[in-house]
Amino acid sequence: MSHLIAPSILSADFANLGRDVEMINHSDADWFHVDIMDGVFVPNISFGFPVVSAIKKLAKKPLDVHLMIVQPERYIKDFKNAGADILTVHYEACTHLHRTIQQIKEEGMKAGVSLNPHTPVMLLKDIIPYLDLVLIMSVNPGFGGQKFITHSLTKLGETAQLIAESGSQAIVEIDGGVSLSNADDIIKAGAKVLVTGNAVFSTPDPEATIKEFKDRG
Ligand code: DX5
Ligand code: ZN
Repeated sequence: MSHLIAPSILSADFANLGRDVEMINHSDADWFHVDIMDGVFVPNISFGFPVVSAIKKLAKKPLDVHLMIVQPERYIKDFKNAGADILTVHYEACTHLHRTIQQIKEEGMKAGVSLNPHTPVMLLKDIIPYLDLVLIMSVNPGFGGQKFITHSLTKLGETAQLIAESGSQAIVEIDGGVSLSNADDIIKAGAKVLVTGNAVFSTPDPEATIKEFKDRG
């Protein structure tokens, strides 16, 4: 499988959200990456269900929803109803991770787990067989436009190895500080899905930039 590109809506122009969603529809992007922040798990608040539903109405590609919230198990059904296709929770936010993953799957969504930069990949050993996706955070979550933490490349390799050893079907996604300058290294290190916010939306022609990302690797 060649790599997938998931532009992050967090960097879109919220006053022109419909226009930016249509741009992604029209582009070579594969998924919409949708960041949900609660101001508790991370020091920022993004947006909630009405915005996710509004994106879903226009989106012609899957919604990859990244929950940076405490107790995500309380909202699994709501995110299904709002239109999530893939639902990713944080390892650090789940006391009963196995149960939460089962609940996501029971709702008919793909299930992902994300790791903060300080969380070792080996902690996924007993949950990896149940996952569709592992999201490696390459910045401390909460804000777009931060600098890529280089150690994340090592974690991508460790994740790919863990997946291979366990026979899991999970794919590896990277999120934070992804740019055209590090995309080749990221793909080489084992990432299959590249989330990119600032590096796409800060350019004069985001659609052309998405194509450049798609042509990497
Ligand atoms: C960060 C979010 C990211 C963010 C990435 O907490 O999870 O998805 O939008 O933005 P860039 O690509 O600008 O680092
Ligand atoms: Zn994200």
